[in-house]
Amino acid sequence: MSKDRYWRAISIDSILPDHFPSVALYIRSGGNYVLYKDPDRMFTMDDRHRLERSFTEFLYVRSGDMEVLNEFMEDNLTEMLARADLGSAAKGKILYQTSVNCVIDMFESPETAANLLRCRNMVQNILQYVITDPLALKSLQSVVDHNFYIFAHSVQVTALTLLVHERLFDLAADEVIDVGIGSLIHDYGMTFITSEVLEKNDALSDIEYYKVKQHTQKGYEYLKRHGKYSEVVLNIVRYHHERYDGNGYPTGAKGDDIPRSAQVAALCDVYSALIMDRAHRKANSHGDAIKIMREEAKNGAFNQELFNHFVEIINEKTPA
Ligand SMILES: [Fe+2]
Repeated sequence: MSKDRYWRAISIDSILPDHFPSVALYIRSGGNYVLYKDPDRMFTMDDRHRLERSFTEFLYVRSGDMEVLNEFMEDNLTEMLARADLGSAAKGKILYQTSVNCVIDMFESPETAANLLRCRNMVQNILQYVITDPLALKSLQSVVDHNFYIFAHSVQVTALTLLVHERLFDLAADEVIDVGIGSLIHDYGMTFITSEVLEKNDALSDIEYYKVKQHTQKGYEYLKRHGKYSEVVLNIVRYHHERYDGNGYPTGAKGDDIPRSAQVAALCDVYSALIMDRAHRKANSHGDAIKIMREEAKNGAFNQELFNHFVEIINEKTPA
């Protein structure tokens, strides 16, 4: 088992100086983890500057300390997002790191009730941030990191899906939360795919592609078996790769037989994947991503009307 499993990376941008719990922080040096700050010492602005000067982006926390750190960050999140002295970018970094920690735990143990509760709170914070802060999408985009592709992508899809639902549909509060939870764990089924396939840089063989495509159905079946997830959550997990013309997977469902929340999640999923750096290609610009998707919509992949609304909303929230 890799020793990396015992460590969690924390972006230094998400650590507010003089506002960090009593947790030891480590620095990675030549493959080893070296103590940077012991639990009793405060992380200060001087620390931040010193690390920035040495181009250090991440510090590391022992995975056993993550519970304390998550509790601290999640307890303080709503208050931090409301602080007038913090800019959109700083809030985006804190929200991103806190959500990623939550998604990692959800992917590890989606059947744990405490994780589901954390996830609900996280969705509320993401929703609040994305609808109230005009720079939210930009700020979140600037912190996503391809090293944590699947988790970063999950947070971004959640922010986008929540925003589109909030703008277009008049949903009950509980349904909005379920849309957010479904989006956070939409790719949960990827945990059933071997890392050799997931991390492969070259084109996938037919068999490998077939295996990757199974993540929708496998994730759905696992989460359904646990009985804690609503139909809205399960629909997003199962149908987020369906296409309006029936050319998607896993079921080939067509048109409005595809649940509406999953149609929105599909748009956000494709857009997020296009604008993020991947191992095999650089990120597309916002404009290029929309251009690619417009072509796909024209060919029938998405509901044209929904796509037009999606573009309007994303354009408005993506200042040039
Ligand atoms: Fe997916």
